[in-house]
Amino acid sequence: LTPQRLAGRRILITAGPTREAVDPVRFISNRSSGRMGFAIAAAAQRMGAQVTLVHGPCGIPPPRGVLPVAVESAEQMLAAVQVAWPQSDAAIMSAAVSDYRPLQVAPQKLKKEAQGGQQIQWSLTENPDILAYAGANKQPGQWLVGFAAETEKLLQHGTEKRRRKGCDLLVVNDVSRQDIGFDATHNEVMVLGPGEDAVESWARCRKDEIAQQLMERLAACMETA
Ligand code: C5P
Repeated sequence: LTPQRLAGRRILITAGPTREAVDPVRFISNRSSGRMGFAIAAAAQRMGAQVTLVHGPCGIPPPRGVLPVAVESAEQMLAAVQVAWPQSDAAIMSAAVSDYRPLQVAPQKLKKEAQGGQQIQWSLTENPDILAYAGANKQPGQWLVGFAAETEKLLQHGTEKRRRKGCDLLVVNDVSRQDIGFDATHNEVMVLGPGEDAVESWARCRKDEIAQQLMERLAACMETA
């Protein structure tokens, strides 16, 4: 049985993909399953935390005992995080937020016939970076954990990302591999921080085990602070 190491802690988690509307029936999204974030939410809840889970469309039920906040777009996710972050002791941002969204959302379904066989060009605009927002608005005593999906130079890119986004811990995974990461049941990660040179490499294991270890790691950080 997990000791209630996070009892009384308010923890915000973002999970899953976002959906960026093109028109009333179409959207841009990605392959995120939400499994990593949902596993983190379940682990934190088991350890006694009060969990708010802000999640995009995932197709799996949120774990029992957490407060789910369902959103679709990155802008909606940011709005939910802006409410929850100031009231949280820690946040773990595992959502796969779409980097871009269509500049304009067509009010009616786009019709193929209207294009007359021509190519379509869509303008995309950058979405807000929700983790960077939390990093820039972090109060003393708050802990922030980010994720990074990388295909090469994991340590270098991870170190830069941790600094740029202002997070205490950064979990880096290698998405060039089929057996781990996106839409997989297993993961193999490096955990950077909170010190400048602190690096841990965790062996490949199930996402719920990674989640449990990560929450133990976070609890240890919070206890020393
Ligand atoms: O920049 P990149 O997408 O690789 O960063 C990944 C981390 O940043 C994840 O923790 C993800 O949840 C977060 N992120 C975010 N908002 C974005 C893009 C990424 O919160 N728009």
